[in-house]
Amino acid sequence: MKISVIGAGYVGLVTGGCLAEIGHEIVCTDNDAEKIATLEAGRLPIYEPGLDGVIAKTRKQGRLKFSANPVDAVAAGDAIFICVGTPPLPNGGADLSAIDHVARLIANEARSPKLVVEKSTVPAQTGQELKRALAVYGRKSKVEFRVASNPEFLREGTAVEDFLHPDRIVVGVDDEVAEKQLHEIYRPVLERKFNCPFHAPSPCPDVPPPAWLVTTINSAELIKHASNSFLALKISYANMLADLAERLGADIQQVTRAVGMDSRIGGSFLNAGLGFGGFCLPKDLQAFVHLAEKSGVDFSLLKEVEKINKGRIRHVIEKVRRGLWVMKGKPIAVLGLAFKANTDDVRFSPAIDLILELLAEGANVRAFDPEASEKARDVVPQVKISESPYAAAREAEALIIATEWKQFRDLDWQRIHDAMTHPFVVDARNLLSGPEMKQLGFEYYSIGRPD
Ligand code: UGA
Repeated sequence: MKISVIGAGYVGLVTGGCLAEIGHEIVCTDNDAEKIATLEAGRLPIYEPGLDGVIAKTRKQGRLKFSANPVDAVAAGDAIFICVGTPPLPNGGADLSAIDHVARLIANEARSPKLVVEKSTVPAQTGQELKRALAVYGRKSKVEFRVASNPEFLREGTAVEDFLHPDRIVVGVDDEVAEKQLHEIYRPVLERKFNCPFHAPSPCPDVPPPAWLVTTINSAELIKHASNSFLALKISYANMLADLAERLGADIQQVTRAVGMDSRIGGSFLNAGLGFGGFCLPKDLQAFVHLAEKSGVDFSLLKEVEKINKGRIRHVIEKVRRGLWVMKGKPIAVLGLAFKANTDDVRFSPAIDLILELLAEGANVRAFDPEASEKARDVVPQVKISESPYAAAREAEALIIATEWKQFRDLDWQRIHDAMTHPFVVDARNLLSGPEMKQLGFEYYSIGRPD
């Protein structure tokens, strides 16, 4: 099928690349002409494992094109996936102005029937507004529009794999034609009939094919916010337990492992640490609370989730203070800048929030991240970005692990020990083994585990 993708951010690029990978013809546009020029020059504006290969291959095969001209992009597709940003407003609600702008663009420029698919995360009832906007702006052209909601559940860092091997595909529709069109678009994924760029030449993992869930548009929109908020709730629950485990001398990892083995609960998203960040969980939680309040429903449960999360930074700072007493003027190394491992994204990164607190205390912060250094430089220009974890640790009086990069586990910790003035580590992601670190001579603290 011919498909347009509007918005070339994380979701748009992964959606466009993967839809091309499974056989569709894609034109992807963005109002940031520089971004499109970068993509046309064969470079990616983001780091996302596997995406470069998918985009290079599908462009070479002629199935994926980038265009800075949104009018061409609207003309190209029978289906249009809206993948623009919905950033938070000061009141916590989602800023839907980009969606409105795209609705006006599609309504003005479409000359043939279009299936308009909401991929961006939006509050429930946005689909209704979108339908209304298309009708109002497009009243002269009389083009037929169908609207659907198709929320995305991909995670940064594993986005390509998540797109091609999802647990479920949710389509919110209010007519059968839209459902059939979306089924046709996703047929290769549902039937596993595509050359998997991740696992080929080996077969893909033997897991059940994705569930195909057809819902109303309102329900589909609600599913997305409900899913992300539940993930946030699991993380805050684990963090709350970690604080208690710390006080009582229990080990949070032993606790969450056993709790998660109950298949009714599930083991993922129970890692205690510095809390959740990124451009999705925090803003979606806020937007969900805002939507509930507007609708007169008590969502104080989710407000607590937010409150617990905000408290994580202070919790870690207090651990650092315990080891250093005064932070002012002291060199502190921070390993990790990205909001989580396997991404270069620093938006709403807990690591950055932590660094800002350390700077406010007057600490002399130097930081290292395997991928996010460039992006972090713009956000915290006052921080010295080190070339390697060893350089960051040189003569440091404390070292904090702020992002769960696996490679931090495999560092030469003896070398780091010898490089530091005071071998004091706060492992805010519970990445390392306490007994091993102590054996090496570190003063070592982690989250929710006996010190
Ligand atoms: C999240 C959801 O997981 C995706 O399903 C969703 O599609 C996406 O938002 C979105 O709405 O677009 P993502 O933002 O990539 O994906 O990040 P997550 O993997 O969910 O991690 C979020 C944060 O939680 C990170 O800061 C991570 O370090 C933290 N986290 C995660 C924990 O602190 N503990 C855990 O056990 C898991």
